[in-house]
Amino acid sequence: MLQTLTAPGLTTGRAPFVEEARNRGELYISQPYEQYSKENHESWRRLYARIRPRWERYANEHFLKGIEALDLPTDRIPRLPDINQRLQPLTGFQAKPVSGYVPGFLFFDCLRRREFPTTITIRSSDRMDYLPEPDIFHDVAGHVPMHTERAFADTLVRFGDCAHTAVELTSAIHDRPERIRRLTNIIKAMSRFFWFTVEFGLMRGRNGICAYGSGLLSSFGELEHAIDSDEVQRYPVQMEWLINQGAEIDHYQPLLFIVDSFEHLFDLVDGLERWMRQGKLNNVAPGLPEIHEHDLQSFLEATQ
Ligand SMILES: [Fe+2]
Repeated sequence: MLQTLTAPGLTTGRAPFVEEARNRGELYISQPYEQYSKENHESWRRLYARIRPRWERYANEHFLKGIEALDLPTDRIPRLPDINQRLQPLTGFQAKPVSGYVPGFLFFDCLRRREFPTTITIRSSDRMDYLPEPDIFHDVAGHVPMHTERAFADTLVRFGDCAHTAVELTSAIHDRPERIRRLTNIIKAMSRFFWFTVEFGLMRGRNGICAYGSGLLSSFGELEHAIDSDEVQRYPVQMEWLINQGAEIDHYQPLLFIVDSFEHLFDLVDGLERWMRQGKLNNVAPGLPEIHEHDLQSFLEATQ
């Protein structure tokens, strides 16, 4: 107890352990569990208690099964090794603690190895709704339960394959500006695809439409809005639309796409790779997201 009271805390934006690791250039870290403060655990407890009834109503059934299978604690932050012990036998996936943002290629490459880069900090208790960057509630309560489902887990691995294909297709281009232009378009297409599916996807299922996207499943306000609000446009997923649609990040999503099943989603990612090989991702519509230098660089430096 004394330890918890005096713990420095692992609060988003105020976590010396994480900042020091980042300053040393360490991306992959441990989860120093004893450093979580009482307030950190209280944030998790409140976030969980608040959203649980909304999961019952709006989450897809695989997510609910995943919550059960992982036996996520309700009153304290989970220990990642405990989660991994339950997760790994199901799909081979593991939550892997990181110190911050993982550049594009490295992120997708982790998925290919069935490792999910996981933030260990948690938002402060006075900012329950505002989330400028991922925290452990988003990553562990929003993403990780989905990784217990076989077809969904395989879909994430296929995203990793797509990143390798992007490198394969562009690494032989000697004209550097052209190589960068093509990669930027491909990364933009992949990011949009990921955004509108893994982060904000809807699926046909119980009660009509339900959520499987982790951005929705970890947001108390947006989860309900995404499914019940008349202001949201919801359409059956279409690849040509996904890869050309700008992804806006600073407000509730006004446009969401529906898949039939995770087998359907897997086939779509297969299609994404096929389109990439055919050159159809080389000229996607301009617009959001911006592709940042470190994301581009991670693809330029990648080896297959
Ligand atoms: Fe996420």
